Amino acid sequence: MLKDSYPYYLASEPCFANTDLDVTNKYTGEVATKVALADAGVIDKAIAAAEKAQPAMTALAPYERQAILEYCVKRFTEREEELGKALCIEAGKPIKDAKGEVARLIDTFKIAAEESVRINGEVVNLEISARAKGYQGMTKKVPIGPCSFISPFNFPLNLAAHKVAPAIAAGCTFVLKPASRTPIGALIIGEVLAECELMPKGAFSILPCSRDGADLFTTDERLKLLSFTGSPDVGWALKAKAGKKPVVLELGGNAACVVDEDADISDAIDRIIVGAYYQSGQSCISVQRLLVHSSIYDDFKSRYVERVKALVSGDPSDEDTFIGPMISEGEAKRLEGWIKDAKEAGASVLCGGERDGAMLQATVMENVPKDCDASAEEAFGPLSVLQPFDDYDSALDEVNNSRYGLQAGIFTRDIYKAHKAWNVLEVGGVVIGDVPSWRVDNMPYGGVKDSGLGREGIRYAIEDMTETRLMVIRTP
Ligand code: SIN
Repeated sequence: MLKDSYPYYLASEPCFANTDLDVTNKYTGEVATKVALADAGVIDKAIAAAEKAQPAMTALAPYERQAILEYCVKRFTEREEELGKALCIEAGKPIKDAKGEVARLIDTFKIAAEESVRINGEVVNLEISARAKGYQGMTKKVPIGPCSFISPFNFPLNLAAHKVAPAIAAGCTFVLKPASRTPIGALIIGEVLAECELMPKGAFSILPCSRDGADLFTTDERLKLLSFTGSPDVGWALKAKAGKKPVVLELGGNAACVVDEDADISDAIDRIIVGAYYQSGQSCISVQRLLVHSSIYDDFKSRYVERVKALVSGDPSDEDTFIGPMISEGEAKRLEGWIKDAKEAGASVLCGGERDGAMLQATVMENVPKDCDASAEEAFGPLSVLQPFDDYDSALDEVNNSRYGLQAGIFTRDIYKAHKAWNVLEVGGVVIGDVPSWRVDNMPYGGVKDSGLGREGIRYAIEDMTETRLMVIRTP
């Protein structure tokens, strides 16, 4: 299903290179395809092209930007099956989840197409004192300029789309560095953009690259915005090197989910199984810390663990598979090590914990000391950690007892408790009646504390990708 090799896109053109990067099938470990690898010289040319093409991109009328985005929607829809299979191979994503991501990619571009024609300004009343009599202000939004994007491995299509689609809507050129382990999704987006005649020549580059030159994505002053999705340590280090440009960081977390005494336990378990284990927990908002009211704890625990044990693991291309491989054996070993460390520190493994290559069993633990990595750090794998609570307010304190703050989920039917969670939780989003892992692509999405800076969700990303330009008119 994958081609033998993929070009990178430099200044809108497909190019093959002297050096290739092997992309493996994450389930079999075999090389599945090759992609052209850009070096520092190529990245420099890409940035120069993005700068040169910016006036043409700025000059596109909103309906023209909309037409580009609608063209992408059409082509992604036509290539839906191929895209799903590509994700399944390059990311080891179970095919059901891969199809779900393709559907979200299409949503993301559709939302951007809609937003592209409603980027408005306002009339500002300036006559606030006698000296301003006869003055009127008007604002409009102008593109910030060439943008730099770095996208992660866990949603190779949709998290690249969350940068590319709003950039087109806003009228920004861009250079994108996809994750080296999963570059195919972004390169197919590049293929579609390259065939779209409305896209100004040179306006985009999509460049898998090694360390050589990758710094330019962060440090180059011709780039006017850096938007990064990935691990917290890398994200904050990039921000420190980004110079004058604004930075948007979509980072990770150890998301908490509270199940209060009035919750419908069956419904909560159905949702938490998905929130904790879909795509092997490799989502920044995967349920990791599970706080369950002590009056229902034992019942919840036994039913939950039975369900987790029953999850089908194996070949991600099989429609029945729920748990596929983690992105690499190294990552699976890392999390297996955290589970062992927590066990040595007194935690119990209720199910799972064993590893075979990159396949780590879906694991549930309890009594995990708070300072163990399995609770305090981002697991980014198939692990959830159970703990009981007696008092709702202390459960909310526990949700906040983290250096992260991306999203939280609360299963309660009490509107006042829901409202309290919304008021006190230090997170970017509170999801009532569902898991923190819930996301639809037009909502503001992002974190506080170590989880990041700024929000994505098309309209919110467009805010970052545009600047307000004021015109003042004096009527003598
Ligand atoms: C993420 O892992 O940061 C994104 C989660 C999602 O888009 O569902």
